[in-house]
Amino acid sequence: MRDIRQLYLDFFAQRGHKIYDSMPLVPDDASLLFTNAGMVQFKDIFTGKIPIPTPPKATSSQLCIRAGGKHNDLENVGYTARHHTLFEMLGNFSFGNYFKKDAIAYAWEFVTQVLGFDKSLLYVTIHESDDESFSLWCEHISPERIKRMGDKDNFWQMGDTGPCGPCSEIYVDQGAEFFHSSEDYFGGEGDRFLEIWNLVFMQYEQKDGIRTPLPKPSIDTGMGLERVVALLEKKLNNFDTSLFAPLMKSIENLTNKRYYHEDELLKMTDSNVGELRHTSASFRVIADHARSVAFLLAQGVNFDREGRGYVLRRILRRAVRHGYLLG
Ligand code: GLY
Repeated sequence: MRDIRQLYLDFFAQRGHKIYDSMPLVPDDASLLFTNAGMVQFKDIFTGKIPIPTPPKATSSQLCIRAGGKHNDLENVGYTARHHTLFEMLGNFSFGNYFKKDAIAYAWEFVTQVLGFDKSLLYVTIHESDDESFSLWCEHISPERIKRMGDKDNFWQMGDTGPCGPCSEIYVDQGAEFFHSSEDYFGGEGDRFLEIWNLVFMQYEQKDGIRTPLPKPSIDTGMGLERVVALLEKKLNNFDTSLFAPLMKSIENLTNKRYYHEDELLKMTDSNVGELRHTSASFRVIADHARSVAFLLAQGVNFDREGRGYVLRRILRRAVRHGYLLG
């Protein structure tokens, strides 16, 4: 896990990017409750409010919270394989320097040569209007593995205001073994095809519902560290990885219950599998929320009746409820 983070930062540093520290979870930005993406610390560079730094390219591993505002995953946590309130986002950024061609080439090289994913398992989506990305991807992947999608899936916005643009996502096929829903085809709603990396082609700034072109087309990418670790460790659920193992062990010790991994649950035929599934969901909620609560408190957010402090209170309350469910 540490290795994957470092491999990512080194890969982009070797290609002229400056490594930036993760910024605080509470941004100096009234339009955002929490830092929800790696690009937040670069927002004013994208929009031209502050000058482009030297070098005009950056990379980071950013801690993000998605538990309020436009990107809010709180209620999904525990019940899906991939949602977190707090997670780490690997990203590379170009401030008017390289654009689609290099962003796509870098991503392909990193995924296939550094992470070592088998090319036959990879698929991509692009925005339905983006013929340029289609041609660029065709240099790496066969056209039937490229799917055009609409704004809902392939247009990325930081929030209601701020930089935004069409995007292209890379997917990994996790194989048929555990996935039997009719939606488990590429582009379907099933879980078999997992998105690992979002390449955003930043072209606009949105304000009051109006989009104006950015001074310079830029790049913002986001790759969830937890899900990449899960794929590399061949786990069906992010919470089943080595990253969460110490937290699961602690919860097991506190509750005298066992945490079952998703592949164990899927293979079970016992009549009480439904109950074990609920137990595992509660473990995941507590593990996730303990991380968010710890980081938010450490960064100065306190319990409150509104705003950030209220989100913190809701996260803790949800964890406590699952503590009761575990007895
Ligand atoms: N800013 C890119 C992402 O969050 O996916």
